[in-house]
Amino acid sequence: AGAVVVAVGGLFTWLYTGADIAAAGTARFERELAVPPLAPSTVEADGTRVFRLRMQEGETEFLASRKTPTWGFNGSYLGPTLRAARGEKVRVDVSNTLPEASTVHWHGMHLPAEADGGPHQTVAPGGTWSPQWTVDQPAATLWYHPHPHGATETHVQRGLAGLFLLDDDRTPAGLPHRYGVDDVPVIVQDVRFDGARLDHGHQIMRNVGFLGDRTMVNGTLDPYFTVRDELVRLRVLNASTARVYTFGFDDDRQFTHIATDGGLLEAPSATTRLRLSPGERAEIVVRMAPGGRTVLRSYPLDAGLDFWNQRFGGGDDTFDILQLRAADTLRPSQPLPDALVRNTLPDGKDSVRERSFDLDLSGINGRKMDMGRVDGTVVRGTAETWTVRNDDGMPHNFHVHEVQFRILDVNGQPPPPHLRGPKDTVFVPSGTTVRLAMRFDGPADPDTPYMYHCHLLYHEDEGMMGQFVVVEPGQQPSPRIPSSPGA
Ligand code: C2O
Ligand code: CU
Repeated sequence: AGAVVVAVGGLFTWLYTGADIAAAGTARFERELAVPPLAPSTVEADGTRVFRLRMQEGETEFLASRKTPTWGFNGSYLGPTLRAARGEKVRVDVSNTLPEASTVHWHGMHLPAEADGGPHQTVAPGGTWSPQWTVDQPAATLWYHPHPHGATETHVQRGLAGLFLLDDDRTPAGLPHRYGVDDVPVIVQDVRFDGARLDHGHQIMRNVGFLGDRTMVNGTLDPYFTVRDELVRLRVLNASTARVYTFGFDDDRQFTHIATDGGLLEAPSATTRLRLSPGERAEIVVRMAPGGRTVLRSYPLDAGLDFWNQRFGGGDDTFDILQLRAADTLRPSQPLPDALVRNTLPDGKDSVRERSFDLDLSGINGRKMDMGRVDGTVVRGTAETWTVRNDDGMPHNFHVHEVQFRILDVNGQPPPPHLRGPKDTVFVPSGTTVRLAMRFDGPADPDTPYMYHCHLLYHEDEGMMGQFVVVEPGQQPSPRIPSSPGA
């Protein structure tokens, strides 16, 4: 009877988890980490920096001599790293050579709604779209990805994602900053192969969406990176569609957390673990010894999270992500500064309005996304406090377009150090309430909404999304938001 119980228990575990991800210690680290190229740009007479992104189909050789059909920007998988400085005017000429309409959203960017690249700014097959804006926010690791309503998960999984780095003149000079050398993108995705093809299928009862059985960094399987400096800065993006990672190193070494989604922390923060849900970013600095090796891993979610969060959040495993291999001699790095930047985000005291958002797979506040419905109207220049609650029994997170927010509290407690910087996405496991303070500084546009949503992309596609418009005081949003097809 014992064996039957164990077998039935095993079956249930399988139904909930599907095949497990390859266990830690089994990775071979046989491929050098690819680093996305910096995107070339041109500068027009009026100073506008212009990038070109082409969404295209292609084939990628992830596995030796097997060609996998993929999508990418300016290449077959992922996209180049865009980079611009605070104060610069930028324009991106986006062309779509895919067989389907898509969009390109600048995740974390403060910009006019018409340039946001949400589900209303569709780029038809064969079409182009040229959003422009002035970069007006602190240095940060942002990213871009498609956002077509109902199809975001598959468009991202096929390979459409890239980084958008912002620079400013407040960043302390001592931080590692040589791109691809001591300042390295780490775009983490989980995947599953079916022969040469990527298998995007959801597993039975896995209501979080897709969970893969192995990970890639920057599109490289089993990657290693050769470190040539004492300190290496990793710009980590969770570009997975549902999986939550709790990063740490296999030797449990301390590393230094320096930046959250929207920019630097006030001071470096030493830690051994850092959790990122889909869409979140963190910049960390790792100290290496000459000839040393260490492996970036993901560990199970906090013990404080219950079975359902663990299982549905894909966070019950320990697995390897990236090996760092130090050269036998390392260039000396400057010591990290004690202070980084001053946090100027609103603290909730001048909030003019409170709103609350109840997260559920059946919708936010009981409503599924409707492209023609405005769920909230915000007055330009004001600050608000948003309370986000999850009692759904499965993990969610919450992303707000246009703004960076300050996390005021998590279940009534002050946020832990790694949630004290500028954020645009926050993990909200079941049983959690977070309060967020944000200010809406952008231009008013009563006709064009911004989005807020769960960034588990299957949930977003299923309708865990809502829309808000920013208006001038006294102004009303347009009653029906037109869904504007692109050129
Ligand atoms: Cu990264 Cu609305 O998305
Ligand atoms: Cu969700």
